[in-house]
Amino acid sequence: MTSSAQGSSILRKRWQGKWGLVTGASAGIGMALAEELAAAGVNLVLTARRQDRLQALAAKLATAFGIQTKVLVADLEQADAPEQIFAATEGAGQSIDVLINNAGFGYYGEFSKGDPARQTAMVQVNCSAVVALTNLFLPRMIARKRGDIMIVASTAAYQPVPYLATYAATKVFDRFLAEALAQEVRPFGVHVSALCPGPTESEFGQVAGSPADQFRGSQKASSVARKGLEGLALGRQWVIPYFVGQAGVFVQRFLPRRMVTAGVAKAFRPKN
Ligand SMILES: NC(=O)c1ccc[n+]([C@@H]2O[C@H](COP(=O)([O-])OP(=O)(O)OC[C@H]3O[C@@H](n4cnc5c(N)ncnc54)[C@H](OP(=O)(O)O)[C@@H]3O)[C@@H](O)[C@H]2O)c1
Repeated sequence: MTSSAQGSSILRKRWQGKWGLVTGASAGIGMALAEELAAAGVNLVLTARRQDRLQALAAKLATAFGIQTKVLVADLEQADAPEQIFAATEGAGQSIDVLINNAGFGYYGEFSKGDPARQTAMVQVNCSAVVALTNLFLPRMIARKRGDIMIVASTAAYQPVPYLATYAATKVFDRFLAEALAQEVRPFGVHVSALCPGPTESEFGQVAGSPADQFRGSQKASSVARKGLEGLALGRQWVIPYFVGQAGVFVQRFLPRRMVTAGVAKAFRPKN
């Protein structure tokens, strides 16, 4: 665990003593987001499919930071999972002040040779579940005139990514959803923010089947989480948590997209 004992003062100021819900908390960026929130004194609902991991994390965070925790096992490939998560929290009288839509996965390789079921499951987890969860939790935040929602997108959301084609398309969806909602709900005191990491230390590459060299020099998940959460607390509509990503996104605005996509295709083309 890399969070400092006191956590970020920005997070503490906005959320200490409140309840947050983190999807995909059993690994990688989601686990780091949970750790940062816990260090700031935020009580947590942790959800994903791997119950053992969630229970171990919940116990560790409760002991280290004296927060309350709740574990909800849910598979976001199932269309009714968001309603079950809502029923077990807001539906049971537990207000959620910070909703972190983090769960997601990628699928690397030539689109035409890929498993169609895996591609559509990715759209379900990365997009449909995000829409459903946000739709369920947002109205109560608006009614309370306070709330914060993070949607984890990616720097893959800033250009097409051949060989991660569906994944990058899901992340454009996430980014645009977050940025649009941020404008809609700002007048009601609710923040929505797209966190757009680049290569980050996690299980993502292994799950996606990506070559290891695509993750060389990856950012630590704790750094991504801290920057994303501080951006959300401060009302930023999007956060790219590292300088090279910010610079890359800025520069490619001035280049023809076809040229950018061709360059990305060269970098991502499978070697064999
Ligand atoms: N790592 C990167 O380089 C990178 C870069 C940009 C954006 N991102 C984004 O960051 C987010 C987190 O990814 P990560 O890098 O932390 O990957 P990770 O280490 O593989 O973690 C993914 C998390 O999502 C959960 N998840 C996956 N499928 C699920 C399902 N069907 N139902 C419920 N939970 C599910 C996993 O939990 P279970 O397996 O226990 O269900 C796990 O907790 C994703 O949205 C990803 O697109 C990652």
